[in-house]
Amino acid sequence: MTTREAASTVTSVINGSRDAAQTAEVIEARNPSDLEKLVAEIHLATAEGFAQACRAARDGQPKWAATPAPVRGEVIANVAHLVRENKEELASYVTREVGKTTAEALGEVQELIDTCEFFLGEGRRLYGMTVPSEMPDKQLMTFRMPVGVVAVITAGNFPTAVPSWYMVPALLCGNAVVWKPADYAGATAQAMAELFWHGGVPAEALHLVQADGESTFQGLELALDEETVDKVGFTGSTDVGRKIGALCGAHLQSPCLELGGKNPLVVMRDADVDLAVEGALFSGFGTAGQRCTSLGTVIVDEAVHDDFLERFVAATEGAPIGDPTREVLYGPMMHERFLERFEDRWLGLIEDHHAIHGSTGVGRITAQNPREGFVGEDPEQGLFCHPTIVSGVQADDELANTETFGPMVGVASFGDWEEAIALANGHGYGLSAAVYTESPRTAFRFREAVSSGMVSINNSTSGAEAHLPFGGNGKSGNGSRQSGVWVLEQFTRWQAVNWDYAGQLQKAQMDVAQVEADRGFRL
Ligand code: UN1
Repeated sequence: MTTREAASTVTSVINGSRDAAQTAEVIEARNPSDLEKLVAEIHLATAEGFAQACRAARDGQPKWAATPAPVRGEVIANVAHLVRENKEELASYVTREVGKTTAEALGEVQELIDTCEFFLGEGRRLYGMTVPSEMPDKQLMTFRMPVGVVAVITAGNFPTAVPSWYMVPALLCGNAVVWKPADYAGATAQAMAELFWHGGVPAEALHLVQADGESTFQGLELALDEETVDKVGFTGSTDVGRKIGALCGAHLQSPCLELGGKNPLVVMRDADVDLAVEGALFSGFGTAGQRCTSLGTVIVDEAVHDDFLERFVAATEGAPIGDPTREVLYGPMMHERFLERFEDRWLGLIEDHHAIHGSTGVGRITAQNPREGFVGEDPEQGLFCHPTIVSGVQADDELANTETFGPMVGVASFGDWEEAIALANGHGYGLSAAVYTESPRTAFRFREAVSSGMVSINNSTSGAEAHLPFGGNGKSGNGSRQSGVWVLEQFTRWQAVNWDYAGQLQKAQMDVAQVEADRGFRL
C-alpha cells in the first residue's frame, strides 16, 4: 500500500515557471525509513532543460548584479528569517526524503541559517582595496566582480546545508544560480528554493533543475559550449568530480569541487579513550556514515588499541539505530542505490585477515538478519543497515584506501608516528582528519604532517562549523574552499583599476621617480 496524502509533484522551475522544461522521466521519491510512503513525484528534465535554465540565468544575471550588494544582503536576511520560521518543516522534508535523524536534520537546516547570517552582512562589505600607485596623480584600486552564472550540482546527504554553501555566497556576490539538486532529494530542494524565492531572490536569479546525473552532465556540456555557465560548484563523488573538472578545464574554468574522503581519526596513547570513542561513534555512524566527512579508519596506538576497540565495539553494539524521528544514532540509508552499493561493494572489501564487530549482523537489517535493540516497528519497511566495525585493517588493504559511504569503520593499529601518518595520508584523500591526544606538541605535529584540508583536535572528523574554510586536497577536491570569507574567491573575480589624473601619459616602470641612496654606507 502506498500512502499518497502528503506527496507532492516536484518539477524544475525556470524563470519562475514550473512547466518550462520538458519532462524526460518521472521518478518517485520514497521515504527511506518507510518505503510505502511516497514523498513526491519528481519530474526530471532533459539535458536541454538544464541548458535552458543556464540561458535564462545568463539573461537574468545583469539585473541581479545591478542590485546593490547591501540590498542583496537584505534578501539573504529575509531568506534566513524564512528558513528560521520554517525550520521544523524544512527539516522534516530532510528526514522524510533522505532519512536523517530529526536532530541532524534540524542541525543541517541550522547550518543553512548560519550561512545566511554570515553572508547577509557581507553585502555591506565585499571589500576591495585602494593601493598606492608608483606615480603621482594616479590611484589604484580593486573591485570584486560577480563571476556570472554559477551552476550548483549537489549531493543529497546534506540536501539543504551544502547547497546553501554555494547558493548563498554566489547570490550575495551578484551571480545568478542554476541549482541541480540530487534526484533523490528533489522535494527538499523545491521546499528550500521556495524559501529563497519568497525571501526576495528574483526568479531570474535562481533556477531549479531536477535532473538525473547523465542529463545534467550533457546539459552542462551544452551550456559550457554556449558560454552560459561561468562557474561550477559540485559536491559529490571523486569519480564524477574528475569528469566535471576535466570538462570545466577544457573551457578554461576551475570548478569548486568538494569530493569524497577517507577521513582518519588517530588515537594516541595519551588520549582520553572515552572521548575518542564518542568521536568515532558520531563521525563513523552518524548520518549512517554518509557524510563526506564520515570517519574512514581509526588509527590507534598499539598500547591502547585493545582497550579502544573494546569500548568502541560496546558503544556501537549498544547504540540505538532505526526510526529517524526517534532518539537514534542513525536512520536508514538515503536511497536504495546507496544501500546496494554498500552491500555489494563496500562490505565486499572485508578480507579474511579482518575481524567484524559492532552488531548482531552485517548489511541490511531484516527479520532474518535482525539488529538487537532496533528502534522501530519493522526494519524491512526501510533501508536500514547494521553498523560494522572492521578491525585488523592494514595500510595496503583496499578497505584502507577506498571511501566506503555507509555505516562502516575500519580500525588499524600503529607502532610509531611514521606508521600512523602513513596510514592517515596513504589513501590519497585529504578532506578531514582528527587526532586525540593530550599533548599540544603531538597535536601540532599532526596538523603539520597530515594532508587534509580540515583537522580536528580531540573532536570527530565530521561536524565542521559553517564559517571556517571547508574543502580538501588530493582526491577530495581541487583545492577550492567553501564557507566563510574564503568562498568569496570562488564567486567573485578581482578587477584591478588604475585611474591616472595627471593629464599626461605616465608609463609604469619607466616614468617612476628614482630614489638617491648611498647603499654602501656602513656605520
Ligand atoms: C558533506 O558531507 O558533504 O562537517 C558535508 C560536516 C558537515 C558538512 C558535511 N557540517 O560533517
